[in-house]
Amino acid sequence: MIRVTFIERDGTRRDVESSPGDRLLDVAQNAGEPLEGTCEGQMACSTCHVIVDAADFAKLPPAVEEEEDMLDLAAGATRYSRLACQVWLDPTLDGITVRIPADAKNMQGR
Ligand code: FES
Repeated sequence: MIRVTFIERDGTRRDVESSPGDRLLDVAQNAGEPLEGTCEGQMACSTCHVIVDAADFAKLPPAVEEEEDMLDLAAGATRYSRLACQVWLDPTLDGITVRIPADAKNMQGR
C-alpha cells in the first residue's frame, strides 16, 4: 500500500491509498481530484500537471524530454512540476505529497 497525499487548491490535504504500479493520474482521478488528463497519457496536453513535494520529487525518475516540453507549456509550472500521467507509484514513494495547481481544469465544475 502506498499512501498519497493530495493538497487541493484550497489547501485541503487528502490522504488516499494506492498500490504499486498505479499511475498517479489514475489515483488522482479516482480520488476525485480535478485533473483532466485529456490526452490519456500521451504527453500532449499538460492537463495532468501536478506539483510534487520537493523531497518526493527527488525520488522520481527524471522526466523525459517530451514531458519537459509539455511542462514548459503548463501554466503555473515550477521546478517540481510533473505530468501525473508519467508517474508510476512504487513503495519508495510511500507518503508522496502532490499539490494540485491552482489553475487545474476540472470536469466536475466544482
Ligand atoms: Fe495529457 Fe498527461 S494526460 S499529458
